[in-house]
Amino acid sequence: MNPVILAIESSCDETSASVIKDGKVLSNIIATQAVHEQYGGVVPELASRAHQQNIIPVVSQALLTANVTKSELSAVAFTRGPGLLGALLIGCSFAKSFALGLGIPIIEVNHMQAHILAHFIEDPKPEFPFLCLTVSGGHTQIVLVKSPLDMEVIGQTTDDAVGEAFDKTAKMLGLPYPGGPMLDKAAALGNPKAFAFPVGNMPGYDYSFSGIKTSVLYFLQKQVKENPAFVQENINDICASVQFTLIKTLLKKLVQASKDLNINQIAIAGGVSANSGLRHTLQEYAKKYNWQVYIPAFQYCTDNAAMIAMAAHFQFLEGDFATQYVSPEPRMKI
Ligand code: KG4
Ligand code: ZN
Repeated sequence: MNPVILAIESSCDETSASVIKDGKVLSNIIATQAVHEQYGGVVPELASRAHQQNIIPVVSQALLTANVTKSELSAVAFTRGPGLLGALLIGCSFAKSFALGLGIPIIEVNHMQAHILAHFIEDPKPEFPFLCLTVSGGHTQIVLVKSPLDMEVIGQTTDDAVGEAFDKTAKMLGLPYPGGPMLDKAAALGNPKAFAFPVGNMPGYDYSFSGIKTSVLYFLQKQVKENPAFVQENINDICASVQFTLIKTLLKKLVQASKDLNINQIAIAGGVSANSGLRHTLQEYAKKYNWQVYIPAFQYCTDNAAMIAMAAHFQFLEGDFATQYVSPEPRMKI
């Protein structure tokens, strides 16, 4: 059987739909919600309402682009979690009713597993087992990926996610939302060694990113007292230094895990894997540590339904279907 699956992603502020046929992604439509820009962050209630407005046009466009009709679909997949409850509810309810109407099964997908499985959309694909550094706005994890559906989190943040550290630092510096990509751009023009920030030291493969936020805040307060124009004059160097610290912290634990487990297949996934500094440094580490590295194409780093479709494809092959009783799970774990 060659499954044709419609997949829906609605966990945060992107409404996305994708069609996958026998493991090949035919469409990946993403509607980004601009409404949050004026608030400097995602407003959950507004996200839900925007999903409600976007979902039908996005799904229609995904089917049209893929040149697939409703009657050809074998299943409908959706993101069950983790994510914002109200946002997840839109995708979940839509998928359930659409599948019920068509008389086809539904597949519930874990958003973080899907970020990792985005590596199987295009070549080159990692070999099992591999280690994946999964870095997004809500998560920072080192995942041991044994097979498409068998994953084990071996390390994770004990407080903030690294994406949050990027976004909150950007906000402190007065950079517009979304902060992470803005900080990345400014960092490319600065000196990463200009300022030193302390790195949280956690046991094992765990992380802590709440300290760096506070240390940047105190550093800025002190400097601005002496020179009110400090931030404007040094914005690129501050961004480069913060980014350097965050990347160094992330990769230190990844190096340790790779050594301990003797695994040199290394991947990154999630929104922060779009960061140019992280992508570049990972290439350098590949040479230094003899790693085979896998870096997703930009369009598959941040939230998209193609990755949900890829995960759903693997689940379909395993007969892993949900029932109509399924509901969103905002804190869903890998
Ligand atoms: O995976 P994602 O799209 O949504 C979540 O599941 O959280 O990740 C969003 C996160 C945000 O924190 C955003 O600022 C960060 O990814 N991000 C970046 C870059 N692009 C997105 N952070 C640093 N540099 C980037 N280029
Ligand atoms: Zn995500």
